[in-house]
Amino acid sequence: MPDGRADYGDGTRCVHAGLPEPVPGEPFLPGPVFAAPYHLDPAAGPDTAPNGYGRPDNPTRRGLETAIAELEGGDCLAFASGQAAITALLLAVLRPGDTVLLPTDGYFPVRAFATETLRGIGVRVEFVPTAGPYPSFDGVRLVLVETPANPGLDVCDIAELADRAHAAGSLLAVDNTTATPLGQRPLDLGADLVVASGTKALTGHSDLLLGYVAGRDARLLDTIRGWRTTTGSIPGAFDAWLAHRSLATLDLRLARQSANAAAVAAMLRARSDVLAVRWPGLADDAAYPIASRQLRRVPGIVAFDLGDAGRVARFLTASRLVFAATSFGGLHTSADRRAQWGDDVSPGFVRLSCGVEDAADLVADLTAALDAAGPA
Ligand SMILES: Cc1ncc(COP(=O)(O)O)c(C=O)c1O
Repeated sequence: MPDGRADYGDGTRCVHAGLPEPVPGEPFLPGPVFAAPYHLDPAAGPDTAPNGYGRPDNPTRRGLETAIAELEGGDCLAFASGQAAITALLLAVLRPGDTVLLPTDGYFPVRAFATETLRGIGVRVEFVPTAGPYPSFDGVRLVLVETPANPGLDVCDIAELADRAHAAGSLLAVDNTTATPLGQRPLDLGADLVVASGTKALTGHSDLLLGYVAGRDARLLDTIRGWRTTTGSIPGAFDAWLAHRSLATLDLRLARQSANAAAVAAMLRARSDVLAVRWPGLADDAAYPIASRQLRRVPGIVAFDLGDAGRVARFLTASRLVFAATSFGGLHTSADRRAQWGDDVSPGFVRLSCGVEDAADLVADLTAALDAAGPA
């Protein structure tokens, strides 16, 4: 039962998520099952066993899916990456002539996929900023929101948009990458589908790519499962196992990342040489009114502007703790100048992902690196 452990706290739910019943002599989390074909019953064929062939069937992947399903409160399908999950959702649900509404300020490859591929097959693609205002959803088949949005960290009200989508006969999907299922449970707020990259905070060790789709509508999920089986966009057994192992510490990691982000955001805010600091946990942040109601915990990502690319480079070179890297949600604090990847942000815009280092060390290192970087 996906939601069977909902009465426990987050730490307990993460540690026990998706584990089989204890069996004496067996490990807590069974090791990865590496198999392409499985033995079949020579007479009865595939119908008498849970596993026939590795693309549709893998017990390690199913264990991970059970774990994520418990945390999201729905059934789950794991994919090879977040992009594999998002594109599977879009292509499995949308048909020529349908309209899809996407965020202007979300993860940019989703926009690129929509304009290059979806428009090419006759899907109408429209864009709206995460913070709104949202147009009428009449005639829209699918609304996909990303909240908090990467990299700008704006948010939208999932419950309100779900109501509006359902009144118009549309589906609402929420990209839950930044928040993770401990930060918000979009299905509880009325969303039809959750989609996410598990590459980021969900697994948090910067050592694998993963994605998933979660939902409560069995027919929708069957359609997407069929898409996955025929396109083959599955995670390998070892990645699925690593992800399941890493999930157990999600509560601890998020708590430290969020506390570090609070300390870092306060430090950045106090400096006159750092502009446009965004963190949805700051009481005067534009996202705060919705974030403080909707998010159970604020992600460890802080955005700010250092004015130009040269100053960002000096800052990153001077820091001893911040890795220059283009991901977020990991154990190690990392930072990325997003304009270098084509995001529509100013040249000095930095997305800083707080890791699980000690807050005092991080604040001291960032302060020294900003001092060393000098003015823009
Ligand atoms: C919000 C969001 N969604 C989806 C993705 C895609 O995930 P992946 O890199 O695992 O394909 C990313 C990647 O950064 C992301 O930030």
